[in-house]
Amino acid sequence: MEKFGNRLFITAVFIITLFLVTPVTADANCVSCHKKVSPGLVSDWEVSRHFNEEVGCVECHGDAHKKVSDARLAKMPDEYVCAECHEKQFNQFSKGKHNFGWTSMNAMPVTHVEPDELMEGGRGCGGCHNMGIKSESQKKELRDKGYRYQNNSCDECHTRHSFSKKEALNPRACQQCHMGYDHPQWEMWSSSKHGTRYLSQEVGDLPAGAAVPKCQDCHMPDGNHENRTAWGFLGVRLPLPEDKQWAADRVVILKALGVLHPETGEPTARLEAVKSIDMVRVTEKAWQTERDKMIKTCSKCHSTRYAREQLAMGDSMMQKADRLMADAIETVAALYKDGYIKKPADYSFAYPDLLYFMRTGGSDINKMSHIDQVLFEMYMKHRMRTYQAFFHVNPDYAYWYGWAMMTKDLGEIKELAAVIRATHKK
Ligand code: HEC
Ligand code: HEC
Ligand code: HEC
Ligand code: HEC
Ligand code: HEC
Ligand code: HEC
Ligand code: HEC
Ligand code: HEC
Repeated sequence: MEKFGNRLFITAVFIITLFLVTPVTADANCVSCHKKVSPGLVSDWEVSRHFNEEVGCVECHGDAHKKVSDARLAKMPDEYVCAECHEKQFNQFSKGKHNFGWTSMNAMPVTHVEPDELMEGGRGCGGCHNMGIKSESQKKELRDKGYRYQNNSCDECHTRHSFSKKEALNPRACQQCHMGYDHPQWEMWSSSKHGTRYLSQEVGDLPAGAAVPKCQDCHMPDGNHENRTAWGFLGVRLPLPEDKQWAADRVVILKALGVLHPETGEPTARLEAVKSIDMVRVTEKAWQTERDKMIKTCSKCHSTRYAREQLAMGDSMMQKADRLMADAIETVAALYKDGYIKKPADYSFAYPDLLYFMRTGGSDINKMSHIDQVLFEMYMKHRMRTYQAFFHVNPDYAYWYGWAMMTKDLGEIKELAAVIRATHKK
């Protein structure tokens, strides 16, 4: 009897010790509580590769937060956390254009005259421009303004918490940002021959092997996370083109972008900022490298000659669009020069500044004139569409939403300018 009691005692001690030394993993706690607190989030993580690989809550959020009351101790992981296990993608991403999203947004003067909710709060510009690794000072600014989230760009295509590769390979992963006003790549592609074939294949109306190019095939070939195009968004590059008229038109556009001084034509401080975020290819070679890569991609399905010709037409439409654009800019610039439009106080020069976008707000002294807004729309919406549509093989965007609208804008600007000159007191 006594012997039996001893055994019972020893077994009990053994079990208790086992219980004490075997760590109840922090993750198990996180998961069991969060299954009640936020079940949808946990099930999303459970379908991820991370779940099978035992990459749990703690790996990304740390283990400082343990109970309901200290949730603010949970860390919000930035890209460096992902880099611990995915160095290759991190390094590629760091070298590409996406890494400049946050910085280029903040480089725009307009960003600082608009509500923070649209920027750091992530529901306007910031909702799409949360792309790019933030510097320490950018993170501090976010925190100082009271914003806690938006620390990670990898989850823009591999949405948390399923972090799926398959999702990121679907062109819809790009749709939230590459759509709309000034970069309707989704609309252009999805209604082009390339896109409609993709969508037909998706519902089973084309065999699996049929050629259906999607965003990732052309912009992330071989899964490369370093993305960049030849012309980029602004459609300007250095050095200036050889054609004299085109070069002169470009100079006018660069003045309206504030990177060349409107009178002297000398580079301004803004040019350095634009260069530092890789907004324009600054050498012919840098441009050609990207163009050649793209032609190689097209050549998987088309003849090289066909591909070159298609892209060259986009370039020459850009040249024609620049002619209209420069005419419009000079028409508005003349109103500044002749004193019909007053220089808004925060502009650097008495000259149109396209990087204030179409803001209306601010004090009277910072108000933007209506004709300036028409000019902005011509540049940002219609000029973009004219050539982006060529690159994305979309007839309707190229003509009706692009070129046709530019000619209408120019007519409107000329008309407005005439009315202003006839009716305004200087
Ligand atoms: C006892 C329950 C409980 C446990 C255990 C727990 N959490 Fe939480 N957690 C919460 C609650 C409640 C919130 C706040 C939810 C809200 O704001 O609606 C929260 C919030 C969070 C947040 C978001 C914080 C924010 O600012 O939005 C993260 C991330 C998080 N938990 C991760 C973890 C991790 C990692 C662990 C394990 C180390 C863990 N949780 C353990 C209950 C718990
Ligand atoms: C692979 C990394 C990773 C893992 C694993 C992970 N998270 Fe997250 N989590 C993130 C990222 C990235 C964010 C977004 C951070 C930001 O916006 O700054 C986030 C945000 C959150 C948020 C706040 C945002 C929201 O949607 O409410 C909560 C809560 C959260 N995670 C809970 C958890 C829990 C619970 C687990 C475990 C089941 C977990 N996370 C596992 C990366 C991870
Ligand atoms: C502790 C290591 C670790 C961390 C931290 C981590 N991962 Fe992973 N991740 C893995 C492992 C392991 C796999 C599975 C093997 C692989 O694909 O490399 C994986 C797979 C993936 C995949 C492929 C999923 C699929 O469907 O095939 C993606 C995408 C991914 N991780 C993104 C992220 C992102 C984004 C972060 C940061 C928010 C992150 N990971 C943080 C370890 C990690
Ligand atoms: C719907 C998502 C979205 C919103 C909202 C948005 N952007 Fe963008 N922005 C993009 C995308 C996508 C690009 C790249 C487009 C391209 O290259 O055609 C871009 C390009 C830019 C560029 C050019 C970057 C470069 O290097 O060429 C700047 C600057 C910019 N945006 C600033 C802003 C500002 C400021 C706002 C708000 C006033 C804003 N964006 C609103 C998605 C968005
Ligand atoms: C613009 C969208 C986008 C962003 C942002 C993005 N990825 Fe990806 N990622 C993809 C695509 C598309 C693939 C699939 C590539 C392929 O296999 O062709 C992928 C694949 C991966 C894989 C799986 C690799 C493999 O072959 O199994 C990992 C891991 C990964 N990404 C990590 C990251 C990390 C870390 C970041 C942030 C530094 C990141 N991604 C940002 C689109 C993105
Ligand atoms: C068949 C190949 C192809 C497909 C598919 C494709 N693109 Fe493009 N994309 C191009 C070419 C070509 C350019 C112009 C390159 C240059 O400047 O020389 C371009 C340019 C861009 C640019 C820079 C601005 C512009 O429009 O000129 C962005 C951003 C972009 N594409 C995003 C996307 C997105 C998002 C999708 C899917 C919805 C997509 N692309 C589908 C070939 C493609
Ligand atoms: C969260 C928003 C977001 C998502 C999702 C996104 N992008 Fe972007 N993308 C941007 C922004 C913002 C820029 C401009 C970055 C900058 O300011 O330099 C950009 C730039 C680009 C460029 C470079 C254009 C140039 O200037 O040369 C390409 C190409 C591109 N994206 C393709 C893609 C593709 C393909 C996908 C989907 C796999 C995708 N993006 C998903 C926001 C996004
Ligand atoms: C994965 C294969 C594939 C790639 C890559 C590809 N295309 Fe196509 N493209 C097709 C198919 C298939 C068609 C439909 C047949 C046709 O009209 O010629 C097509 C059609 C076209 C058309 C004619 C559209 C119409 O309305 O008739 C043009 C122009 C075009 N592609 C240009 C390009 C350019 C430029 C590139 C590279 C930036 C490119 N394609 C990359 C497969 C591809």
